[in-house]
Amino acid sequence: MSSPAPQTPAVSDPAHYRKALGHVPTSVSIITATGRGGPIGMTIGSFTSVSLTPPLIAFFIDKGSSTWPLMYESDRFGVNVLGHRHSELCRTFSRPVADRFEGVDWQPSPHGIPLLDEAIVALECTRVKVDVIGDHYQVVGRVESLEVRAADPPLVFVQGGFLDLTPPTVP
Ligand SMILES: Cc1cc2nc3c(=O)[nH]c(=O)nc-3n(C[C@H](O)[C@H](O)[C@H](O)COP(=O)(O)O)c2cc1C
Repeated sequence: MSSPAPQTPAVSDPAHYRKALGHVPTSVSIITATGRGGPIGMTIGSFTSVSLTPPLIAFFIDKGSSTWPLMYESDRFGVNVLGHRHSELCRTFSRPVADRFEGVDWQPSPHGIPLLDEAIVALECTRVKVDVIGDHYQVVGRVESLEVRAADPPLVFVQGGFLDLTPPTVP
């Protein structure tokens, strides 16, 4: 007689679910836009490339986000991919601070989108589609322009922390 399958924690246990999926490494980007009072932005790990022709990208936003409704007022947004030295920017743009741009260097793009000087890759996008997927919005954007600004390794988030991708120095 075969032994029963081992019991695994239920998918319905949110802590277990988050911890298990936290083993999947993600890139870290700051989505930016111009709000009524100036630049606004938030950290995301769900950025992904979708299509080359046409050039489409996507990311997922928690329906409870307080920043997304302000971003939605504009049909353009920026995606600022962070490099391996930018863990502090990742934290700043995921915290409830009054002005996430305080002390952060940025420039407006020709279309008025705030783009961070420190981004290793900066994209300007037009919003194409927003769908409700479970407790998130799936946002699809068309890439209007992009710039690779630094060859640094990306910031990688996994298991609640950052991978150190600092290249070794040759003695
Ligand atoms: C590494 C990392 C990745 C994140 N990825 C996402 C994401 O893909 N989607 C999302 O909605 N929130 C994500 N968050 C959380 C948001 O940054 C955070 O909840 C949000 O900025 C809360 O502020 P808000 O209410 O101003 O939107 C992430 C946070 C961190 C630290």
